[in-house]
Amino acid sequence: MEALVNPHVLEVSPYKPGKPIEDIQREFGLSRVVKLASNENMLPVPENVRQAIRDETAQLQYYPDSDNYFLRQRIAEYNGVGLENVIAGAGSVEIIQMLIRAFLKPGEKVLTSEKTFSLYKSATIEFAGTTAFVEAPMDGGLRFDLEAIAGRIDASAKIIFITNPNNPTGTILPGAAVSAFIARVPSDRIVVLDNAYQEYIDDPGDYVTGLDEIRARKNVIVLRTFSKVYGLAGLRVGYAMAHPEFIAILNRVKPPFNVTRIGQRAAIASLESDEFKELSVNLNRRNKAKLLTRLQALGLRVIPSQTNFLLFFPEVDVDGLNLRLLKRGVIIRPMAGFGIPDAMRVSIGLEEDNDFFAAMLEEALAEMGR
Ligand SMILES: Cc1ncc(COP(=O)(O)O)c(C=O)c1O
Repeated sequence: MEALVNPHVLEVSPYKPGKPIEDIQREFGLSRVVKLASNENMLPVPENVRQAIRDETAQLQYYPDSDNYFLRQRIAEYNGVGLENVIAGAGSVEIIQMLIRAFLKPGEKVLTSEKTFSLYKSATIEFAGTTAFVEAPMDGGLRFDLEAIAGRIDASAKIIFITNPNNPTGTILPGAAVSAFIARVPSDRIVVLDNAYQEYIDDPGDYVTGLDEIRARKNVIVLRTFSKVYGLAGLRVGYAMAHPEFIAILNRVKPPFNVTRIGQRAAIASLESDEFKELSVNLNRRNKAKLLTRLQALGLRVIPSQTNFLLFFPEVDVDGLNLRLLKRGVIIRPMAGFGIPDAMRVSIGLEEDNDFFAAMLEEALAEMGR
């Protein structure tokens, strides 16, 4: 097969998602398995969203609206932008792929930080090869180092991904620094603000949502998702906001019918009220504080997080620890694929799941002599 394949595809390391609960139950003969591996919201979505999903099942013989019209209209209204500023995707991951396909010319590069969301890298490599991807180092606090990124904007750096807050470190950038950075980027380069975890920020302060930037500049795009705080990861709905000319280019590469009927209806319903979002954010804040204290009490280095997950350094062999956790029915994520081989990331779940994880972690670490 290798002779048949586009050589760039062979350079891609396949994405390793958190293992499915069913796999671990089967493999280790367990009844209780807790999955805290993909930064989902563990609360079930509210009744109005479930009702919208049920209603839509009567229409499944028809293709969805390819233009995502009513979804985009609701998103536009919710964010105070125009319909022409919005594009929807099958998850924001699909929009990341569209961006690279639409804008990366031969010889041009994607620039971001090390230790960030791994999809920027794989989407770049499959399209343009390993040499098209450039990573700047982080600062000492595991934050994006905007100076280091700015220093790598040469003639070929074309698309710059800024993840704020960042996955997997959970760290956030000062708003003034983000604004100053955007102002420095030449107008023939693209700045992508990936704000997937924006809703979870503890103190928005001067946080840059990107909405002022997309009004003032044509080269900035903001990515958002329904997969995290809105609890719709299983339906795959994300969106982006940018200048209408920018969105029009993305529409040229958008696959037709990309967001399902149920995805569109559920996402619209989830923007009817902020109640579920606020409940989720408050619960996350409480549970995160409790889990942080528990992990610190185990003597672990944990990175303070503005998101719905925590990055920690177990100081034992991560693969060995991961296997011990899996055997005990806990799925979290080793971070080698995100460039931090000595770290693990745990999503914040419901209190009883977090407690189970912490207890199993304590046991596994003790077994490893830590
Ligand atoms: C930083 C970041 N961006 C984008 C995504 C993709 O989200 P989705 O494709 O589910 O919208 C994720 C998911 O984990 C993420 O962490």
